[in-house]
Amino acid sequence: MSINVPRGTEDLLPEATKKWQAIEDKLNHLAQVYNYKEIRTPIFERTELFQRGVGDTTDIVQKEMYSFDDRGGRSLTLRPEGTASVARAYVQHKMHGLPEQPTKLYYIGPMFRYERPQQGRTRQFTQFGIEAIGSANPAIDAEVMAFAMDCYQALGLKSLKLVINSLGDQESREAHRNALINHFKPFKDELCSDCQQRLEKNPLRLLDCKVDKDHEAMLNAPSILEYLNEESSTYFEEVKKHLDTMGINYVVDETLVRGLDYYTHTAFEIMSEADGFGSITTLSGGGRYSGLVKELGGPDISGIGFALSIERLIMALDAEGVKLERDESVDCYVINIGSESKYEASNIVNQLRRSGIKVDQDYLDKKVKGQFKSADRLEATYAIIIGEEEIQNGVANVKNLKSGDQKTIEIKNIPSEIKTGF
Ligand code: HAM
Repeated sequence: MSINVPRGTEDLLPEATKKWQAIEDKLNHLAQVYNYKEIRTPIFERTELFQRGVGDTTDIVQKEMYSFDDRGGRSLTLRPEGTASVARAYVQHKMHGLPEQPTKLYYIGPMFRYERPQQGRTRQFTQFGIEAIGSANPAIDAEVMAFAMDCYQALGLKSLKLVINSLGDQESREAHRNALINHFKPFKDELCSDCQQRLEKNPLRLLDCKVDKDHEAMLNAPSILEYLNEESSTYFEEVKKHLDTMGINYVVDETLVRGLDYYTHTAFEIMSEADGFGSITTLSGGGRYSGLVKELGGPDISGIGFALSIERLIMALDAEGVKLERDESVDCYVINIGSESKYEASNIVNQLRRSGIKVDQDYLDKKVKGQFKSADRLEATYAIIIGEEEIQNGVANVKNLKSGDQKTIEIKNIPSEIKTGF
């Protein structure tokens, strides 16, 4: 019996990877434009990192982590997200001591969550994310949101909505938390078992509950915006003023709470509004985290970031009909005629490659017609045809397959003539 990929994962074949490479090229380029440097952290981390970082009462930690004991008995977890790992690395390598602050980092890599697979939700997915750690300035909140929007706009997407909210500082959150407990207590028995447990521990999570989302108590739950203290409210106003001045459209949604516990102040998501986009419309999300770095043993320093998944980005590109792929055609295809010419064909291929020219040849002993077909399929611009007579004269026939022009060129001059073009 054959073996297929595990549920919730997929193989990306060359037809798909040429899209991925084009997207990754653009995202890497955008990171340079915004002056973020790449960081690569391990795929697995100590389980405790996510328990403390992402939060014990989140769905991610309670239900979705791929955790295992290694042979030394340590509990490890395949990373479900990137922020906790980046914050850990920031603390471990004392990056707050670097001369240029804030520390602006980005990452691209696989994340793992044990979720019910459906379109736009897989068990292994690839996040592109950024983290700016070391400044609590509303201008950088706006920068992160501008960057997030640009990830889609620079690729040509248009049907986008930026949704923002503020979760406030510790004091505001505490006041809101008490209001939530008082509000939901009378309904406790009617709520799902998860919500019942979370009511005392982390009532904000109730607002994110998929089971009870239509319960009447959810619909008129106290809004965080009513509980923001003056400092938090001023911070949020400043963030909005930056966005307004930059001409970035957004809507405020006071019910946006995000699924991870580390957020304070700004929280945001970007949704696709394209017709034909699946039922999960969130393309990316992020926000400010003021306690995470300290929680992981670092200084009392605030950060902000966001992450998108490339899978959902591709869904949005498909929904809006944007075609994007790396050019995988070759420049030349070398065609050999007669048994002796195959050695010279390999030599020409090798010389061309060493000059940085994209080239291939036949390895299945195809007839000339079949070799021309391959040249066509690979969208070669030039066919380089070499037979025994050409070898005698130290030349090859080179045909421009787009224009039909043909030239006889000395073998040693082929790379330079191809580079010049005809
Ligand atoms: P998140 O909202 O959990 O935030 O995930 C961010 C994005 O990852 C989502 O908007 C979605 O595009 C994608 N994503 C999440 N789960 C899946 C899945 N199962 N399949 C496909 N795509 C998925 C975070 O992870 C935070 N670390 C973001 C952040 C960075 N906050 C501050 N800095």
